[in-house]
Amino acid sequence: MKKIAVLVSGGGTNLQALIDAAASGVITSGEISIVISSKPGVFALSRAEKAGIKTYVHNRKEYSDVRIYSDKLEEILQEEAIDLVVLAGFMTVLDDSFCESFKGRIINVHPSLIPSFCGVGYYGLKVHEEALKRGVKITGATVHIVTPECDGGPILLQKAVEVKEDDTAETLQKRVMEEAEWVILPRAAEMLCKSLEERS
Ligand code: GAR
Repeated sequence: MKKIAVLVSGGGTNLQALIDAAASGVITSGEISIVISSKPGVFALSRAEKAGIKTYVHNRKEYSDVRIYSDKLEEILQEEAIDLVVLAGFMTVLDDSFCESFKGRIINVHPSLIPSFCGVGYYGLKVHEEALKRGVKITGATVHIVTPECDGGPILLQKAVEVKEDDTAETLQKRVMEEAEWVILPRAAEMLCKSLEERS
């Protein structure tokens, strides 16, 4: 079993999808060893605690320097002997050296079909607001490998979602999560754990 760390900053519905996928047998090659939050008090931490998973708050606000923040995070992950890092609504961009240390072993879920509506400044609800502004009829979600280029790493999985005439950013966000993110994130985590297992 590969050891997974899930990094969160908010509600943690994608974390919940991973927990549920491990329970239902969608994820069989890895287990969630730790959930790390960049903010204290977020609901994702309660979800982890309820599932009996170890939690840690690595508060971004306590660090003025992203390099020092990333180095400390790396230290925690090495101590836990983590194989795969899953960014599940983690709202902090990490230092290049972190991406290098975990090269090919960090994945991120993004709420659009990359290369649309992605990159610096595109996160959370903002992505859906921009999609609606542009008038796209199809959007979706992407899981990709994390590299130093924001949202620029190799794409692992994507799933399309229809935009409805009366959608608001909130209703669209909800549909993209339900129909795409919660489906492809666990699948991608399993894919990568399996391939890491085969390589070791
Ligand atoms: C999700 O929609 C995720 O795709 C997005 O934040 C939300 C977190 O929700 N991530 C990004 O925008 C990253 N660029 P969650 O905490 O309920 O999983």
